[in-house]
Amino acid sequence: MIKIYISAILIVFGGVAAWADAHKSADDDTETFELSLNAEDVDLEAAEAIFKKSCRACHGNKAQGVASYPKLTDKEPEHIADRLVTYRARERVGPNSALMFQPAKKLSNEDIAGLAVYVTSAFD
Ligand code: HEC
Repeated sequence: MIKIYISAILIVFGGVAAWADAHKSADDDTETFELSLNAEDVDLEAAEAIFKKSCRACHGNKAQGVASYPKLTDKEPEHIADRLVTYRARERVGPNSALMFQPAKKLSNEDIAGLAVYVTSAFD
């Protein structure tokens, strides 16, 4: 059963945009964008496929966390999306953020929205 956590369109990570403004460079690919984290707006099957391929080896089969790899299921979808955008921009938020740079690198905005809903609802 997929719960709908959020009904509004969210502006995700204005902070990245603020940071980008302060650090403008030619290859800067950070931007402000909108992500819908409505369950009906995301592709949960695609998210599941990405999770199985690129995430569960570290975060566990049910995103329950393993050792120093954090549990993802107890977070808000906005938090998950916000973190993935941050890691994709190669910005650190914790001591092991560098481990997330590679997995986050190729995620599209749609992938991030799907994963945020998927990991916080699929394992209830
Ligand atoms: C190589 C192991 C590894 C892989 C693969 C990996 N992660 Fe992570 N992940 C980590 C570690 C370690 C952290 C903690 C990073 C830090 O200190 O900032 C983390 C943190 C996170 C966070 C932030 C959690 C929080 O509590 O704020 C999210 C969200 C996340 N990962 C999602 C994913 C997703 C989605 C994938 C697949 C696309 C993935 N991770 C793949 C190791 C991994």
